[in-house]
Amino acid sequence: MKTLSSLQFPAGFTWGAATASYQIEGAWDADGKGPSIWDLFSHDGKVWEGHTGDVACDHYHRYPEDVALMRQIGLQAYRFSFSWPRIIPDGTGAINAKGLDFYDRLVDALLETGITPWATLYHWDLPYQLFLRGGWLNPDAPKWFADYASVVVSRFSDRIRHWITLNEPQCFIGLGYFTGAQHAPGLQVGLRETLLAAHHCLIAHGLAAQVIRAESKVPARIGWAPVGAGYSPATDSPEDQAAAMAAMAEVHPNSVWNATWWADPVVLGQYPEAGLEAYGEAVPKFTDQEMKTICQPLDFYGCNVYSNGIVKADSDGKPIAAKLPAGYPHTHFMWAVTPDALFWTPKFLHDRYKLPIIITENGLSHADWVADDGMVHDAGRIDFLAKYLRQLRRAIADGVRVEGYFHWSLMDNFEWGEGYKHRFGLIHIDYQTLKRTLKDSGSWYAGIIRSNGAAL
Ligand code: NOJ
Repeated sequence: MKTLSSLQFPAGFTWGAATASYQIEGAWDADGKGPSIWDLFSHDGKVWEGHTGDVACDHYHRYPEDVALMRQIGLQAYRFSFSWPRIIPDGTGAINAKGLDFYDRLVDALLETGITPWATLYHWDLPYQLFLRGGWLNPDAPKWFADYASVVVSRFSDRIRHWITLNEPQCFIGLGYFTGAQHAPGLQVGLRETLLAAHHCLIAHGLAAQVIRAESKVPARIGWAPVGAGYSPATDSPEDQAAAMAAMAEVHPNSVWNATWWADPVVLGQYPEAGLEAYGEAVPKFTDQEMKTICQPLDFYGCNVYSNGIVKADSDGKPIAAKLPAGYPHTHFMWAVTPDALFWTPKFLHDRYKLPIIITENGLSHADWVADDGMVHDAGRIDFLAKYLRQLRRAIADGVRVEGYFHWSLMDNFEWGEGYKHRFGLIHIDYQTLKRTLKDSGSWYAGIIRSNGAAL
């Protein structure tokens, strides 16, 4: 039997880190950028302590320093997102040349440093003008998105090969349209309209994938980055393990927090039976042609994995929630530390969708501060990462084709409705001075990258 430490990451495995435009760029109205729904939401005081992304990490101006730090960590790849309203201020129509210029500078700096850019087209900063036209509820939204994708692809596909269409639709639709209060645009439209907005997002994904495939100047690698939405078994018993796998296929009424309602159409070309049953009359009307558009060939399945729910089998073998023991470890966000999330979630997704897996996000919010010696000693992040990565290696040994891992996040940043309360970075940001400090975990991760994980 192989021991965990004798297992290997495959040659060519991609080691990276990720960010998103609104969370780091700042410069919210610089150089012709239009407002996004997050600018309005945060200016309306809806974020913790009234925080906004107006300045954030000021990455818009300080990207050279950030790229230098990426180099210091030895990142092979960097996942970032384009800001739609920086490029097309009203969401449709006129293009902001200065917005494109910023991403030119960034992409060129990455390439000069030997870091492969992985671009996300949509990480939640919808142009506010499109919100006024109904946002994702408008049946024209997929077309708006495809046109925006075309602008980006025509400008950058000579230098960018790896594309991610949407980031976590479960979150921006679920928290933004359904449960409402936590995320922009702060709506609570009811399940029927939520599923309609979701359907539009999926069509948008499909159209954008078509655009990238058709218009890219080099052969593109296309994927997306939904929420992993995984479950782990409470024990090693075969019954609990089967229950965890079954739980990941479930869709519950009145919740859009699942993997399959979103991913089955994208990869298998149909909504899952379990979802059609659970949502019943709230399911939007759709055509065969729409389902064909949604289901485009993908090159990888990206998934964002943080913390799994824990389930066990009931007497009929069905999954039920298991209680965590008292004192179980939690992150600063109070998300349970469940390292085998990086085993079970990729395993389920790979079994069901048969695509290479990329972990497009994984990490934790940790209570970090600069110590008297000027350094940030985030031992908890190192331990978390080691535990999670060993489980990812176990998944690979088990036959799951995992091709890359992106740590969330490169640097501390604006954590949406939580503002700057949570620090997810390998790099510490002092939001008063904007000073960057590489954390202990950043140096540790550099060693992991150098050894292709052998140091784990
Ligand atoms: C998922 C989101 O994609 C990212 O924007 C967020 O900061 C992290 N999770 C942490 O919550």
